[in-house]
Amino acid sequence: MKKKLVVFSGAGISAESGLSTFRDNNGLWENYNISEVATPQAWAANPKLVLDFYNLRRKNAFEAQPNTAHIAIAELEKHLAVSVVTQNIDDLHERAGSTDVIHLHGEVKKVRSTGTNELFDYGSKPLFLGSVCPNGFQLRPHVVWFGEEVPNLEIANKTIRKADYLLITGTSLNVYPAAGLIHMTKESSIKYLVDPNSDLRKPSIKNLSILKAKATIGVPKVANQIIKDLKVNA
Ligand code: APR
Repeated sequence: MKKKLVVFSGAGISAESGLSTFRDNNGLWENYNISEVATPQAWAANPKLVLDFYNLRRKNAFEAQPNTAHIAIAELEKHLAVSVVTQNIDDLHERAGSTDVIHLHGEVKKVRSTGTNELFDYGSKPLFLGSVCPNGFQLRPHVVWFGEEVPNLEIANKTIRKADYLLITGTSLNVYPAAGLIHMTKESSIKYLVDPNSDLRKPSIKNLSILKAKATIGVPKVANQIIKDLKVNA
């Protein structure tokens, strides 16, 4: 039975692919007001502004390429059972080759009917007021806005509890309930955190090794360490 690795990722893993994070210098929330673009109230008040915000993020996500961190995680599937629990709405984990990706905050390549909640693959096209589903309802980004339910939380919770190895990278661990998931792992699981600003991120979890590094440097290092560990304990 293959050992289980769960990766818990955030915007920082896609930073070196050119996608903005939220809370770093010049991050998205420095340039946009959350309450104007990422809440149900914003959608009700000014849907065009919300659609424009996600159209730009969709365009950037499609123009970005997976980086060596996404690829190192995908390649670990040769050695372990790997699940990625991501807060990211880009599909860079999937495009790097990861086959089990759980999106906590939605997926920018999908859209949702505001009338039936049905999902549609929408690709890189922009979404406008008047873009409707086959039943005639306005389409919205399939993104979890602040204050909305996190639909995949339960499956993410079940998955992370099985982890023998946990890799946390690219997240400020600021947003709940997502950030609370890292405390659901077995105490005995071996945990790694990769973040260039790791001095700001010291989650109180046992068996945690912190690498103060960017994902493209730190994640391949952790991948090699896990492979070595598997060989020793084979
Ligand atoms: N490699 C690894 N980590 C990085 C890199 C990098 N190259 N660059 C930045 N980071 C780290 C930052 O130090 C920070 O800890 O990535 C983290 C980014 O944090 P946030 O911008 O808060 O992003 P995230 O944690 O994913 O935000 C969570 O907040 O606004 C909501 O829904 C949104 O899913 C998002 C959630």
